[in-house]
Amino acid sequence: MLNADRTDPAVLREQIATELLAARERTALLTGAVDDAELVAQHSPLMSPLVWDLAHIGNQEELWLLRNVGGRDPMHPEIDPLYDAFEHPRAERPRLPLLPPAEARAYAHEVRGRVLDLLAASPLEGAPLLDAGFAFGMIVQHEQQHDETMLATHQLRSGPAVLDAPPPPAATGGPLPVEVLVPAGPFTMGTDTEPWALDNERPAHRVELPAFWLDTAPVSNGSYLRFLADGGYDDPRWWTPAGWAHRMSAGLEAPLFWQRDGGQWLRRRFGRVEPVPEDEPVLHVSWYEADAYARWAGRRLPTEAEWEKAARHDPVSGRSRRFPWGDAAPGPEHANLGQRHLRPAPVGAYPEGESPYGARQLIGDVWEWTSSDFTGYPGFTAWPYREYSEVFFGPEYKVLRGGSFAVAPVACRGTFRNWDYPVRRQIFAGFRTARDAEPRTGG
Ligand SMILES: [Fe+2]
Repeated sequence: MLNADRTDPAVLREQIATELLAARERTALLTGAVDDAELVAQHSPLMSPLVWDLAHIGNQEELWLLRNVGGRDPMHPEIDPLYDAFEHPRAERPRLPLLPPAEARAYAHEVRGRVLDLLAASPLEGAPLLDAGFAFGMIVQHEQQHDETMLATHQLRSGPAVLDAPPPPAATGGPLPVEVLVPAGPFTMGTDTEPWALDNERPAHRVELPAFWLDTAPVSNGSYLRFLADGGYDDPRWWTPAGWAHRMSAGLEAPLFWQRDGGQWLRRRFGRVEPVPEDEPVLHVSWYEADAYARWAGRRLPTEAEWEKAARHDPVSGRSRRFPWGDAAPGPEHANLGQRHLRPAPVGAYPEGESPYGARQLIGDVWEWTSSDFTGYPGFTAWPYREYSEVFFGPEYKVLRGGSFAVAPVACRGTFRNWDYPVRRQIFAGFRTARDAEPRTGG
């Protein structure tokens, strides 16, 4: 994982090659676990066929690294439009004349071989796309993001389980306080120094926040079950008008992949059906459900700025760190990342990943919905292309923070921003809640 310091080009080349390989091994695992018929099938209208992701990964790599950085001619210009995410919505992709699985693999493999040659000869400086290996870092993150999407496709597919992983670590250290206090004051949000940060994470800017309380850990299934048992899905008081209208039209009654079995709730997880574990963060809820739960609990979702201050601000030094635990790259002791486990860890796990304010599991486990719309920071500049972020700015999208167990360490940091529609549930998203810290009066 890349460090924030300027790195020797030989070391940086080695790091990039390692990250490219790790991403491709994960892609191979996700696309090799099912047969060709399943690769070309569409498992949900929300998702592309896996074979589309596979060739799209190769196509973006060719476009940015071989053509833009390397100045090479297109290898197969006729396929470019098929793999342009903006030209064809996901629902349309199965009807396109896509490369069959063997050809898609061969294409991605061919691109990768040429990219490794390019990397070996690249000075990794002297142009904005090259500085600190930015374009390579962007492509590594792109592949890992599609791997996360492909893992979501695996969760949506029906049929027997094909993926396996060991369970995550248990919670440690006894009962934790329910919430932590983040005192009032300014902090630095966003970054100017993180070498592979994307345009929407920039620039660094000061934000002043009043004091607030934040849940120590993400909301658990056990807590969410109390919202269900209390009739939370049947009480419009807890829902925004848009949220209630959606709850009614979509018939929402519980998180996605849950089913009632007599007196208990079960969930389907990568092809296995099991009782809902009460100590795990709730997963596969929409922003509307998260927001309704928070109101029912007499609380609210945190703003994006509150989330980032709780995750990055070090009250001793006054600076913002890369991660809740400091500046060190995420290790298995810090956070549940990288598909090492196929589920979130129980609430209260990862004591070594705790933030200075005492919040846990801000990174990894589940993406966390925030109350904030997706917008550009003050001084935002689209780079290297408007379609990465800017075209999504506005009130239609809500920001998610922190990454999930499906997110690779290289595509996760305290400044990283994700966004999605408030109705979406197939993503690996949960949430935690917050409240204002009113000044206490009297004894
Ligand atoms: Fe993409």
